[in-house]
Amino acid sequence: MTDKSIYKDVLMDHYRNPRNKSDLSDADAVHRGTNPRCGDDLEVGINLDNKMLSKVRFRGRGCSICLASASMMTETVIGKNKVEAHQLAEGMKSWFGGQGECPVDALKALEAVRGHSARKRCVLLAWEALDDALRAEY
Ligand code: FES
Repeated sequence: MTDKSIYKDVLMDHYRNPRNKSDLSDADAVHRGTNPRCGDDLEVGINLDNKMLSKVRFRGRGCSICLASASMMTETVIGKNKVEAHQLAEGMKSWFGGQGECPVDALKALEAVRGHSARKRCVLLAWEALDDALRAEY
């Protein structure tokens, strides 16, 4: 099995079995990310416990890459503090902007779509909503 097919399997697993996709009614901060080009629309909610992200969840609709990326994002940042989570969001923006490396191994499966510029927004939608939610809580 090649890295590429393993990466695709990981993305499909997150799409079919999204982690932390649920109601956000008790979140400390919620922020929305939309892609007007396709109508995809996500909300990311965070809960903080002593400056640490105790819960990060999302809800909404999106393409398979968008939902897989949101699911992977939640797993990656839960347990991080706000600064670490912000740095990961910045790292993802740089990586998908063509600079730097994947900020954390757990996100490497997204390499499978990094060469497709049309997919950049799909991947970053949840990260941008997370970063806005973090900013609301700074
Ligand atoms: Fe809409 Fe991917 S096609 S975010």
